Amino acid sequence: MNRRRFVLATAAAASAAQQPPKPAIDDDLPVRESPLRAGYFGSDYYDEKERRQLDDVLETKRPFRWYGPGSEPPAKVLTFEREFAARMQARFALAVTSGTAALITAVAALEIGPGDEVILPAWTWHSCYSAIVLAGALPVFAEIDESFNIDPADFERNITSHTKAVMAVHLQGNPCDMDRVLAVARSHGIKVIEDCAQSVGASFKGRPVGSWGDIGIYSLQLNKTITAGEGGAVVTNDAALFERATRFHDLGVLRPPHQKVLGRSQVDGFPGSQFRMSEFTGGVLLAQLRKLDTIVAGLRSHARRVYDGIRDVPGLRLRTRPDPAGDLGVAVFVGFDSKERRDRYMAAMKAQNVPASPPGGSVILPVVPHVEQKRTIHSAWPSFTSERGRAIRYGAECCPRTIDILSRFAGVSLHPRFTASDTADIVTAIRKVYPVVLRA
Ligand SMILES: Cc1ncc(COP(=O)(O)O)c(C=O)c1O
Repeated sequence: MNRRRFVLATAAAASAAQQPPKPAIDDDLPVRESPLRAGYFGSDYYDEKERRQLDDVLETKRPFRWYGPGSEPPAKVLTFEREFAARMQARFALAVTSGTAALITAVAALEIGPGDEVILPAWTWHSCYSAIVLAGALPVFAEIDESFNIDPADFERNITSHTKAVMAVHLQGNPCDMDRVLAVARSHGIKVIEDCAQSVGASFKGRPVGSWGDIGIYSLQLNKTITAGEGGAVVTNDAALFERATRFHDLGVLRPPHQKVLGRSQVDGFPGSQFRMSEFTGGVLLAQLRKLDTIVAGLRSHARRVYDGIRDVPGLRLRTRPDPAGDLGVAVFVGFDSKERRDRYMAAMKAQNVPASPPGGSVILPVVPHVEQKRTIHSAWPSFTSERGRAIRYGAECCPRTIDILSRFAGVSLHPRFTASDTADIVTAIRKVYPVVLRA
């Protein structure tokens, strides 16, 4: 934004904050000349480091993690696992092919199966529901709160004698209140799976997400903080869970390098899947992991600047953040008392070339047709043949609060490589638009 536009825009923002509402602000000069776009994170940081990792795999002709030409086994995936565990402050990390594979592996590690119930938020990604159903267990939805994460009180309300685990999904960079989730889970003997797919690098009370519960999972797909296009990881502090996860991801087998990490095997083999990560992926992720702190620091500094710049806007309603310092800062969401007002805000922000979007990257699962109809790959699927499985009803009736909250918030996405001028534009646009929409 040039100086003249800046002066006009800030003057407009100041007057918008002081004067009675105007019916429209579309006739003002937009804050920016062209739309602000956030784009992808990790892949924007690709450089010689990722290229060297890939070249190395090509030149040594060692794309497979367990063996290949040469006297020593390849070590990129193994090194990634070691560094990832250290970064996430967990004893063990296992690399897998995707976040979905990581969830399926975590569910298997916890011995979740037919007859078990798993509580998950009504707003999250398909993978959470699929992982539960593929294990033959019953998904039970809990409402979200204004953090967009699972409401710990509704999690507690949905517990039955069959509840085996809860999925605490840290959505769009915002950590769940792990104190409350863990207090409920521990008091009922329920296992906690942390899904950190959308929050790689976020933390709660200074400790990385994923290390708080019994087992944590991450996605390293393109939309996530660091990426190799596809990829996932599982972390845990529990040796038996790690061994079960490791065996499950590799056809029930425990390979010598993982045996060495574990020290002592304590789990017998069982049939598993095949979710092994390739050395190409491992190499790229190793390079990306070493950039994670830079990416997180960039996002957080922009988020801080935006929050600081808007905190005194009268009547401002923000997405709840149980630990603002731990938030990844992927977007700044503001809320309203109605969908109409929220939609008006989005239209006005678009006109300012600072677009705001509804919460994204997840779906309201209970209203997805195959969920609502309880469809499975076989008609005798154990998830829905038990008495409770037959009785359970999904659909909009089971998550009215989730639907309402998601309809009233909109956020501006951030990017670690935004400039100070980009974040100043976001502040100016919110200061200009929010009070007007609020009072209209
Ligand atoms: C909350 C959540 N869990 C799990 C996943 C699955 O990750 P992947 O796409 O790597 O399978 C995603 C992906 O977006 C996600 O958002």
